[in-house]
Amino acid sequence: MLDAAKIRRQFPLFSHYPELAYLDNAATTQKPKSVIEAITNFYEKGNANIHRGVYELAARATQQYEGVRGKVAALINAPKPETIVYTTGATAGINLVAQSFLEPRLQPGDEVVISYMEHHANLIPWQMACKKKGAKLRVVPMNKEGVLDLAAFRKMLSPRTRMVALVHVSNTLGAINPIEEMIALAHQHQVPVLTDAAQSIAHFPIDVQALDVDFLVFSGHKMFGPTGVGILYGKEEHLAATPPHHFGGDMIRHVSFEETAFAQPPQRFEAGTPPIAGVIGLGAAVDFLQTLDKAEIQQHLKLLARAAREALARIDGLTIIGNAPASTAIVSFVLENIHPHDVATFLAEDQIAVRAGHHCTQPIMDFFGIAGATRASFSVYNDLEEIERLAQSLRGIQQFFLG
Ligand SMILES: Cc1ncc(COP(=O)(O)O)c(C=O)c1O
Repeated sequence: MLDAAKIRRQFPLFSHYPELAYLDNAATTQKPKSVIEAITNFYEKGNANIHRGVYELAARATQQYEGVRGKVAALINAPKPETIVYTTGATAGINLVAQSFLEPRLQPGDEVVISYMEHHANLIPWQMACKKKGAKLRVVPMNKEGVLDLAAFRKMLSPRTRMVALVHVSNTLGAINPIEEMIALAHQHQVPVLTDAAQSIAHFPIDVQALDVDFLVFSGHKMFGPTGVGILYGKEEHLAATPPHHFGGDMIRHVSFEETAFAQPPQRFEAGTPPIAGVIGLGAAVDFLQTLDKAEIQQHLKLLARAAREALARIDGLTIIGNAPASTAIVSFVLENIHPHDVATFLAEDQIAVRAGHHCTQPIMDFFGIAGATRASFSVYNDLEEIERLAQSLRGIQQFFLG
């Protein structure tokens, strides 16, 4: 059994807010002391720019920065550290693939397939690429439970399909999509697949080689790391075939006024001074994740997911949005006749932090015919008592508003 209380003690924020039930982990997770220390240690004892200086500090900064690639590669079982590109987050990784990998190969009439439950970050970049090139964005439908229609997906794949981009875990519904099967189907048509692992990376192990996924993106801040840093994994041959996205220092082999020869991946995608401290913090976050037993994390989150869904389902006038048989500890809901923002505001008074709104998934809101929802999302430091508090507080809110 995972010891949530022991884990919680590793997060300094909770010593400042001991009563806080932090249920907004899908927005961002809290940071363990080890991550905060890795960042302050770098600035206090190791600050220098990378890849340039020959003095000891600069060499050490470079070594630390480059060393994190191997840690991330091990976390997702990538074949080589060179297949790991540092970005500023999941959003930046998707934009890079959409603009640099896809756009040059996209012709009028071609198609790009996404799903109905994509975060705007995995929708708009593909939509923009399609608009620019006269291509068509196809959307895999889902049912009211939040389960994607695989038969429809199968039919959508054709010689015109150039790319498939799929979210692994919906940040709104908590649904876990069968990406392994969907990747295999896309590959039968030689279509590359990008998986948005922003919400899955801290919930369960990801093996990019077993999935055979072409690209995978996630953000550091949703897996106990700092904001402003993220990862793009790409198969070696795809990265090699992708031109740089940004231009500047530290991404070249040779420059003259007439011509520039770019460095090999991943350097060619990391123009300018990167978030060095952020990458080092991300390395500490990977170390933190690796200290936890993966089976125990899954068991704990499954327990919380089930308990939360059961506790909320017992509240009259509350509707859970989506109810996929395969789902994780992210639950969105609406209370009849009470605005989601009011729900979140009143929960905050009871020291329960949740998120309300459209969760950057407006098509999901339209699908369910709602303007917004309140979302509770859980992590390794949450426990069953917080779910009790959530349910109790929601009943109190109903009492207040509806009498
Ligand atoms: C599923 C999903 N994809 C992508 C993103 C974008 O992540 P970021 O804002 O860190 O780039 C998020 C953030 O909420 C998300 O939940």
